[in-house]
Amino acid sequence: MTAATDAFRPAYHYTPARNWINDPNGLVWFDGEYHLFYQYNPFGEQWGHMSWGHAVSADLVHWQELPVAIPEDERVSIFSGSIVVDTHHTSGFGRGGAVPMVAIYTGCRRVPEGGQAQELAYSLDRGRTWEKYAGNPVLDIGLKDFRDPKVFWHVPTARWVMAVVRPDDHQVSFYASSNLTQWVHLSDFGPAGEDGGIWECPDLIELAGTGRWLLKVDTFAGHPGGTGAQVFIGHFDGTRFVAEVPQGREAMWADHGSDFYAALSWGQLPATHDAPVWIAWMNNHGYAKHTPTAPWRGAMSVPRELFLRDTPVGPRLGQRPWRGLDALRGAQRAWRDVRFSEGETALDLAGLDGRSLELQFDMAAGGATDVALQVRCGEGEVTVVGVDRAQGRLFIDRSRSGVEVDARHWGGRREAPLPDAMGALQLRVLVDHCSVEVFTGDGAATLTELVFPSDSSRGVRVAVRGGTQAASLLVWSLRAASVG
Ligand code: FRU
Repeated sequence: MTAATDAFRPAYHYTPARNWINDPNGLVWFDGEYHLFYQYNPFGEQWGHMSWGHAVSADLVHWQELPVAIPEDERVSIFSGSIVVDTHHTSGFGRGGAVPMVAIYTGCRRVPEGGQAQELAYSLDRGRTWEKYAGNPVLDIGLKDFRDPKVFWHVPTARWVMAVVRPDDHQVSFYASSNLTQWVHLSDFGPAGEDGGIWECPDLIELAGTGRWLLKVDTFAGHPGGTGAQVFIGHFDGTRFVAEVPQGREAMWADHGSDFYAALSWGQLPATHDAPVWIAWMNNHGYAKHTPTAPWRGAMSVPRELFLRDTPVGPRLGQRPWRGLDALRGAQRAWRDVRFSEGETALDLAGLDGRSLELQFDMAAGGATDVALQVRCGEGEVTVVGVDRAQGRLFIDRSRSGVEVDARHWGGRREAPLPDAMGALQLRVLVDHCSVEVFTGDGAATLTELVFPSDSSRGVRVAVRGGTQAASLLVWSLRAASVG
């Protein structure tokens, strides 16, 4: 095991200058800024002293870190939650005409017996300073575990709706409010899908124009990588969510890799957006505290746009990297209409930085039975993004990727099903210093995995077995995105 090093700091995935982060919180757009708040320990590289860290961006790509927004206090730690912009002044928090941003989060009591309840804080200066509401908590049902409120304005019923989780019951509860301070219970969803582990961090997202809603909830067990995000597609009438898929107990994963947790979507996006956008903590509760990085620990995934895909087996979630990331593309190398022969072909990257790349791989229909992009290749190290066309599987294998962080959930393959694996297939692969994210071009499958290779492992190879493969490959260097 190598010593913790800053060499793994991502170039274009958000991470703070220092200290521990987990879930994204309070994602909202307001007055030209995208806000990214997050679970943050201001005092160290392990989970603890939970407070809300803060960053802002004009484009969802370049982030500027700001001071801690909502710190823990003697009474409560500030657990996960959301933010709304109270444009219509329903809360009465606005003064002097200022539109309040209102954070709705879980206060986790610090007294020995604990207890979790929903609390409020508001800001009248675009999220820079926050006042905790004197009447906290606003929703307390006497439970030890009751958390992660996601609040949005439900247009047809003209009221605020909250999705919040009762982790041990594997239930998402829905509440409504006209003023953000008084809440009435509407309904509960679950158990459903995967309920082997506690549930956390619900999000309910309208897929505009489709008549459908996406309910996402994370689970602590049952995902092939341990912890992960499951989704349900269905209908929400302002009171109740009814799942259309999955109907049985089989989970539908938002991401088949190990490192996509606590995803949250941005609220109140401007009309220039035609799809919801979410971001996740690119990590896994199974081993997050052991990742070999310093002085920071934890990063976010890239933002992703969400859409509904019609498939022969019903509607499914589709995801694509936020299109604004194209702005990071630098120098490019292209292999157009080539036939990759059986074996391994090392690519001459001609100065592109193999630690920060986008690869777009278009495979023609037919050809070889096994095709792989090997990234972060170096002495004894390789991270494999592979397509097993006979089995119909897209996978990442990080068994030989460098530092093995966890004995149980590290090696081997994490796989996503590919119904038509011998057909034409596009892969988009995002490589950053400690991560690999893969999307199929149609958005059907995504896999996100952390990797910790040697800094010198920067090579890319195409590996082909069981035939030859006609394909085109474009590779870009991606520029660093931090502005803070
Ligand atoms: C999910 C989670 C949330 C909680 C927060 C505490 O990662 O456990 O349920 O609010 O982290 O940091």
